[in-house]
Amino acid sequence: MARISTATIREKKLKNEKITMLTAYDYSMAAMVDEAGIDMILVGDSLGNVVLGYENTLSVTMNDMIHHSRAVTRAARNAMVVGDMPFLSYHVSVKEAVRNAGRFIQEGGCQAVKLEGGAERVNTIKAILDAQIPVVGHIGLTPQSVNQFGGFKIQGKDLESAKKLVNDAKALESSGAFCVVLEGVPTVLAKKVTEEISIPTIGIGAGQYCDGQVLVINDMLGMFKGHIPKFVKKFTNLEPLIMEALKGYKSEVEAGTFPAEEHGYTMKEEVLERLY
Ligand code: KIV
Repeated sequence: MARISTATIREKKLKNEKITMLTAYDYSMAAMVDEAGIDMILVGDSLGNVVLGYENTLSVTMNDMIHHSRAVTRAARNAMVVGDMPFLSYHVSVKEAVRNAGRFIQEGGCQAVKLEGGAERVNTIKAILDAQIPVVGHIGLTPQSVNQFGGFKIQGKDLESAKKLVNDAKALESSGAFCVVLEGVPTVLAKKVTEEISIPTIGIGAGQYCDGQVLVINDMLGMFKGHIPKFVKKFTNLEPLIMEALKGYKSEVEAGTFPAEEHGYTMKEEVLERLY
């Protein structure tokens, strides 16, 4: 099977086929996501929240992202891997943004990058595209803007911010981004944006009318003990299962019932005898 490309993603919108995307941050999880046939794996800067234990994504660095991208891309055979550009990696200058986007491709092994922001990012996106690197846009409740928003607040609820969202989506379309993540926006507004632009929309907290969907894998597997937003569906709840296994391990090791005979290795008795 050929790897999912930007053309495959664009075609899916034309054929009215939903696009699937999930985050992954390590080799084992990425291998499972890939085997499940998910179209795109996002090495998200949500790494900061669910893997590194930060309060938000602002502390995540390029080196963190490259380290985890390498683990994911070693596993992904068919899915397109998208590296998420962290805070300050594309804000200082267009030149730095291109250099950092290039690191995701050259060092991280990714096939595309994602960055947050709308009309204000058009020049940066065009420069990254000039370096032959496909770009995913990301607008709405963009987590790197948490301080500017004054918290994790749904965007586009009033006329002014709804207009801004539509304009930003159109700006991303004209910049050459091949799809756009819509995060934390009202369902009907996400529907309107999806109808208005020719590139696919990938929703998260944006209702059912987007062209595709993305979730943070730890949230949808029930593996994260922090705050879980309303839009998340837990497709399983691994946390209690993992806790049960960990407690079982502790009590068996303490009781001396693990490891048992069958977990050990044998050796020839005469070798052992010659030891003494
Ligand atoms: O970092 C991330 O996981 C993301 C998704 C939530 C879209 O940006």
